[in-house]
Amino acid sequence: MNRPLTVAVAGCGSRGQDTYSKILVTMPEKAKIVAAADLDPEKLAGMRKLTGIPESACYASAEEMLQKPKLADIMLICTPDRCHYAQAKAALLKDYDLLLEKPISPSADECRELRDIALNRKRKVAVCHVLRYTVFYQKIKELMDSGVIGEPMNLQAIEQVGYWHQAHSFVRGNWRNKEMSSSMILQKCCHDMDILLWLTGKHCERVSSFGSLSLFRADKAPEGSGERCTECAIGAECPYNLINLYLEEYRKNGDDWPQNVVAFEPTEEKLLEALRTGPYGRCVYRCDNNVVDHQVVNLELEGGATVNFTMTGFTAHGGRILRVGGTLGELYCDMKENIIKVMRYGKPDEIIDVRTLTNDFSGHGGGDARLVREFVDLVRGEIGVSGTLTSIDRSVESHLVALAAEESRLCHGKVIEL
Ligand SMILES: NC(=O)c1ccc[n+]([C@@H]2O[C@H](COP(=O)([O-])OP(=O)(O)OC[C@H]3O[C@@H](n4cnc5c(N)ncnc54)[C@H](O)[C@@H]3O)[C@@H](O)[C@H]2O)c1
Repeated sequence: MNRPLTVAVAGCGSRGQDTYSKILVTMPEKAKIVAAADLDPEKLAGMRKLTGIPESACYASAEEMLQKPKLADIMLICTPDRCHYAQAKAALLKDYDLLLEKPISPSADECRELRDIALNRKRKVAVCHVLRYTVFYQKIKELMDSGVIGEPMNLQAIEQVGYWHQAHSFVRGNWRNKEMSSSMILQKCCHDMDILLWLTGKHCERVSSFGSLSLFRADKAPEGSGERCTECAIGAECPYNLINLYLEEYRKNGDDWPQNVVAFEPTEEKLLEALRTGPYGRCVYRCDNNVVDHQVVNLELEGGATVNFTMTGFTAHGGRILRVGGTLGELYCDMKENIIKVMRYGKPDEIIDVRTLTNDFSGHGGGDARLVREFVDLVRGEIGVSGTLTSIDRSVESHLVALAAEESRLCHGKVIEL
């Protein structure tokens, strides 16, 4: 292709604008944003400023943009979870290639239907499982494929959401309520299901799960707590009062996540006003949240390998930890510390510092930028489909496993056969 690929962006929030569009504008020779859609005029104004597109290329919704004839080579679908299916279907029927945010859909049938439409129409659809594109997980995959630890028999994975991220996104924020988004294990942890299946190269046969919303509910509200952090008598002692965290992050990093979710293009005044009046200042014990704050999942993979996965908001810091026990050795991998320890049985341990392998640890350990670049190169015809690509046909299984885990959790750990 000897022209830049053209791109339409549906949903210009944290992912569509602040992440993917900001990456795309750094590669003008390869891709050019030509249209954008969002319900929020402030977000569209941001897109005009960032990309230089005219007002006539901005649409008041993805649905409105999708009524036009095909406007670009690819569409980024970065709207809220419950919008993905209908918008992706309409875009595929217009023959867009898609960068589709996860989850594909909260319904197994809709996930399969989109996969089938994409395959039948020969469209390229990458689901944004950004972890696959990190140097950290790519190194683990390389080690496992090399056979250095033999056959993987048991994996233990922990997703440490972190106390403040849990409160920000999953108690007060957009992913707090499964009717508005989907279950925590699907919306947050389809990434983990995807990475575990990808690393082992195996299909999952059985799933069981337990978990609950234990803390962030009205009956757990401490005595004396108020409706909002800005007016709470015990706010100084409450770790979930995030006023200082947002202000400090703003002073350190300016217009960045998570403070730019609290207030678009934040200033200290805008943040304080948003915390006084908006969703992010609400007491964590008095929100309309219903997603779990901790959950464990057991998987049995084909051939008998077992996986134990934990998602928990009750951690001081965020980050993922993975331990893989194989027939010849063990891997211990800490994504926050960027360390992979290779322990061959009976041989000296080796520590790989992932910081020596790359210096791009921007968004999701560098995964955001690598995903966008690889997808652009794929659609431009400059590379073939790589083993990393999270094409929709590969991604559906992670969703089916997550949906089975939720079904099991709701039935107190009943084993679900896949
Ligand atoms: N891949 C990842 O690691 C990752 C990380 C975070 C979020 N996500 C997913 O990305 C998606 C977007 O998340 P976000 O953090 O950017 O949320 P966000 O709220 O910041 O952005 C969503 C945007 O979509 C807009 N919108 C809503 N309905 C629309 C419609 N009908 N047409 C056009 N625009 C519409 C909203 O106004 C908002 O600006 C979600 O599905 C989320 O689960 C993925």
